[in-house]
This record gives sequence, C-alpha cells and structure tokens, in this order.
Amino acid sequence: MRPGIGPPVVHSRGVSSIRVRGGTRVDGEVAVRGAKNAVLKHMVASLLAPGRHVLTNVPRLLDVSIMGELLHHVGASCSYEDATLTVDVPERPLPEAPLELVRRMRASILVMGTLLARCGEARVALPGGDDFGSRPIDMHLDGLEAMGAEFELRHGVLEARAPHGLHGTEIFLEFPSVGATENLLLAAVLADGRTVIGNAAREPELADLAALLNDMGAKINGGGTSTIEVIGVPQLAPADHRVIPDRLEAGTYLVAAAVTGGTVRTAGCVPDHLRMELRKLQAAGCVVITGEDWIELTGPDRPGSVDFATLPYPGFHTDMHPQMVAMLSVAAGTSIMTENVYAARFRYVGELNRMGADIHTDGQHVIVRGVPELSGCEVDGCDIRAAAALVLAGLRAEGETVVTNAAHVDRGYERFVENLVGLGADVDRD
Ligand code: EPU
Repeated sequence: MRPGIGPPVVHSRGVSSIRVRGGTRVDGEVAVRGAKNAVLKHMVASLLAPGRHVLTNVPRLLDVSIMGELLHHVGASCSYEDATLTVDVPERPLPEAPLELVRRMRASILVMGTLLARCGEARVALPGGDDFGSRPIDMHLDGLEAMGAEFELRHGVLEARAPHGLHGTEIFLEFPSVGATENLLLAAVLADGRTVIGNAAREPELADLAALLNDMGAKINGGGTSTIEVIGVPQLAPADHRVIPDRLEAGTYLVAAAVTGGTVRTAGCVPDHLRMELRKLQAAGCVVITGEDWIELTGPDRPGSVDFATLPYPGFHTDMHPQMVAMLSVAAGTSIMTENVYAARFRYVGELNRMGADIHTDGQHVIVRGVPELSGCEVDGCDIRAAAALVLAGLRAEGETVVTNAAHVDRGYERFVENLVGLGADVDRD
C-alpha cells in the first residue's frame, strides 16, 4: 500500500536495533502525538456507521497500520495524510477478523462487539497469550453473552451470533478492564435498550471513545467514570474527531529527562492524564512544572528511590512501569514496584540486569536496588514499553547499548529515535 492512499504505512523492521551511546543529558521539547490506545478504538468505532469518518491527530504507528489492514479486510478503506485518517465504511462490513491480524495486534479483538452490533454475527480469531501472561478475554465474552450473544469456538476462531439482536442489560465487571469496557460500550451503543457497565475502566482514552460515539449520535453518560450508562440507538452517523494526546509517549520522554538529569518539555499533552506518574517522578527528585497543555520535567543528578504500584487509571499506568524501573535502576536507594494489572510483565528485568542493574522479582513485586552506573550491552526489546525502557536505560549507561527487536517501538512511538536525537541523545538505528 502506498503512503497517502491507505492507513499510515509503517513496516515492521523486525530485525532492527537501536544503538544508544550513554552519558548525554537529554534537553529540549517534544511534540506529543495522538494516543495509540485511543485511535485504535476510534478506528473500530467507525465500523458502527456507514460513510466517511475523519480522525485527526492520528500518529504514524505500526499498530495503526495493522488496524488499517483489519478495516480493509472487513471492507472499509482508509487514507492517511498529515496525521488525518479518513475511513470509508461500507453498508455491510465483512464480520471477520483473521488470526494473522489478531495475532499481530491483540486490540483486534475489539471488533467483536462492533461487528456483532452491526452485523448480528462475527468471526474473530482467539488472540491467545503473550509476554504479559495469558491475557484472557472472559469479561468481554461474559458481557456480550449477557447482551444476547452466543459463542462457539471452532478451530481457534470464536464464532459469535446474536440471533435476536443485542439487548441492553446491567453488567458489573470483575476488574476495570480497558478492552472489556470498550468492547461492551461499542456493542451497547446499537443494542436495544439500556446498558449499564459497572466497575468500568476510567482511562482518558475511554472517555475519548465515548465522546466520539456521542458525536456519532450515541447516547452515553459517564464515559471515563466507573459507571457508564448507554441508551441504545438504531443507527449512528460518521463524525470528525481529534484524538487525545498520548500520555504514554509524553511520560516516556519525561522519564528520559529524569534518568539523564536533563530538562524535557512535552508539548500538546494533558498534564492531568499523568497525575500519578508525575507525583512519583517528583518523589524521586524530579522538578515538574505544568501548563495547560505541556509538562516540563528536570531530572536530578541521580534519582532517589520511590515505591509505587500499578493500578487502573487514575493509578500509576502499567505501561509506564518498565520506563520507571529503568530510571530507578540507577537511583540512590531501593525501590519496590508492585504490578497489579498484568500477571507477568517482567521480561525486561533480566535485560536491565544484563546492563548491571540489581533487580529481583518476587511474585508481583519488583525490588530495585539502585546501582551507581549501568554498563551498555546487547539487550532484547521484547515489547513496546520494554524496548523504550531499555533505550532510556542505555541513555544513562556507560558505553554502547544495543536494543534488539526495536521494531516494537514503532508500534507505539512515532519517530522515537529521531525525537531522542532532537533532544540531544546519541542514538541511532540499524
Ligand atoms: N483481563 C482479564 N479478562 C478480560 C480482560 C482483561 O482477565 O476479559 C485482564 C488482563 O489479562 C490483564 C488485565 O485484565 O491482566 C488488564 O487488561 P485490560 O483489558 O485492561 O487491557 P487491554 O485492553 O488488553 C489496554 C492497552 C494496554 C494496556 C492495558 C492496561 C490497548 C490497545 N492496550 O490493553 O496497552 O497495558 O489496557 O492499561 O489499549 C501498550 O500500549 O503497550 C499496552 C499493552
């Protein structure tokens, strides 16, 4: 697919590496792009209404390309130019998400609720486990079942039908799962009657999805709160929508300043979306000032230790934990981090230890004994945030760090290496 006529084309550079020569402070300003974890859902939401949808502030990311392929598979066409994604949705999408796409991006599972609502049926390959543990989708399926869907697993594919259509009901989630809340919300907007999702995820990306759906004609109250009420409507219409800024992208560049003792300003972000993360960075000795849509952080010569626990929003984001642990690996003192969202998200710990960090895991706890210095070596960037965290650790390490499997960063960060170079880091890419 050529740039400009399809979704943003970002090819996976599977074997590529990022080389970091440590010892340089990062200083300067980075413009934050639209949030990956919002735009992927907005693209799925477009399937709820035939016609032309326009999303702006869309980042050029591998995951956005993959979602574009999925939309193409179901019969929609996308075009991308200057951070604007136009999606043309047909009257009747093909209700199917194949394994090849679901495997490359778990968020593909979100088409289940949408396609069921629009087509009365859906065939979606089961995503299976990944590096963060088994990552079940039981809450997605239980909720959709309560709304009238029936499921059968055949040859690795979940075949879903709603023979009498979807109907509203009250659902109380066991855990405020982001994906389950979104899948149910996407299904509920076209369901018959009133749906209430209790113990819903409160992430800003979810509030943004609810805002988009309301612009499309949905009747949603409480998007972004723990109780979402939806009154189903018979049909929706396309809408234009600007994607909210990516708090994880902003947070990652701020930690780059924290770990190197530099000063970075992230422009075009929402400081409130990073409240807990900024509080913990301040506790580690960083100086943080914020404006309406920017954050400036100055790191100390050496960070202090700080304990923290990941929790659903507004708690400390699990997707910021590897970056924070990378910073704490060189802190003065011992920090304890508790991961409460994923069963297993610690593969990067062994890689940091290869660089000379002193980190132990004990169940869901990570004990980080700060060392004065890391030493560069080859490490495996096993997922988006791990790869970013290892690059940040490399900024503080003596000598050269080579982060392999660096294509993972393309899934979540646009121009990651270029932005770091713009901040003065000595980084390049093979
Ligand atoms: N869970 C269940 N059953 C379910 C659904 C979830 O047990 O039916 C569990 C998961 O196994 C996990 C926890 O609940 O342990 C949280 O999962 P959640 O559903 O909240 O996460 P998600 O929707 O699969 C999104 C982001 C992740 C982010 C999490 C948590 C997208 C595309 N992905 O995943 O982002 O870590 O929320 O905030 O929005 C990333 O961007 O690097 C990333 C992994």
